[in-house]
Amino acid sequence: PAIIFIHADGKPDRVETSGGESAMQAATRHGVEGILAECGGNAMCATCHVYVDESWLARLPAIADDEVALLDGTAAERRPNSRLSCQITVTSELDGLVLRLPERQI
Ligand code: FES
Repeated sequence: PAIIFIHADGKPDRVETSGGESAMQAATRHGVEGILAECGGNAMCATCHVYVDESWLARLPAIADDEVALLDGTAAERRPNSRLSCQITVTSELDGLVLRLPERQI
C-alpha cells in the first residue's frame, strides 16, 4: 500500500510501504523530511505528528490513551485530526492514505 505525505508547503511525497509497517517507519525509510521519530516508534516523543486527511479519519484504528496523552505535547498545534504516525499501521485498506505534515516537530 502507498501513503501520501503532504509537506507543509503543499509538496506531496508518495511512499510505497511494505504491509504491516507503521506510517512513521515508511516515512523514515524513504527519507521523508518532517517526520523525526526521535523515540523510534514507542509513542514517547510526539515528533512523528501528522494531520490525517479528513476523508481517512474514520478508517484509522482507534486512538490509544497513551497516544491521546502524548498528542498534548506536539510542537505544532494539535488538531482534531492529529495522530502519531508511529501508531498507524499501514494495511491494504489504507492504500492511498493522505497524511499532512505539520510545520515543525520540535
Ligand atoms: Fe516517537 Fe511516534 S516516533 S511518538
